[in-house]
Amino acid sequence: MASIRVVFSALVFGFLLFNTLSEAKEFLVGGSKEAWKIPSSPSDSLNQWAQRSRFQINDVIVWKYNAKDDSVLQVTRNDYANCNISSPIAQFNDGDTKLKLDKAGPYYFISGAKGHCEQGQKMIVVVMSPRSRKQPMISPAPSPVSEFQDGPAVAPTSGANALSCTLMMTVIYWGWMVFI
Ligand SMILES: *[C@@H]1O[C@H](CO)[C@@H](O)[C@H](O)[C@H]1NC(C)=O
Repeated sequence: MASIRVVFSALVFGFLLFNTLSEAKEFLVGGSKEAWKIPSSPSDSLNQWAQRSRFQINDVIVWKYNAKDDSVLQVTRNDYANCNISSPIAQFNDGDTKLKLDKAGPYYFISGAKGHCEQGQKMIVVVMSPRSRKQPMISPAPSPVSEFQDGPAVAPTSGANALSCTLMMTVIYWGWMVFI
């Protein structure tokens, strides 16, 4: 019976570890409250920050800015490249914007304030595919991102995650009750 106990202990430990590692993270853009602004130099750009970060599905990005004079626009790759603020996919101007990254692939953000995007207040966030587990290389200039166009990514939803957690816990619980 002792060995079964060890196996189940290992299962429970593994499950808890998995849960910790796969927990969704919150990213404050640029790592500080003042970061959503025109960068002072190219090396200070938000893309430098974004490329250092590993974004995964269900992570949340948070922008802090003064809602009176700035906003966040999610735009297409083309509108990102041209700083076209006229028809964003989504726009936020509440000063404390949270966006959940619910699928893999690139997300394009520009400032909605006139002239800011042209001066570098823009950012590409690439969410890793759950299949490849590695961050694809991106270049600041738009290039064909064929990797993201090869059909729908198999993205686990949080609902499916919760279900698998519940199933796992049930199995472990009954295993424990029956064998120990
Ligand atoms: C910006 O986008 C709109 C809508 O897609 C388009 O009509 C317009 O020509 C674009 N402007 C520029 C400068 O590209």
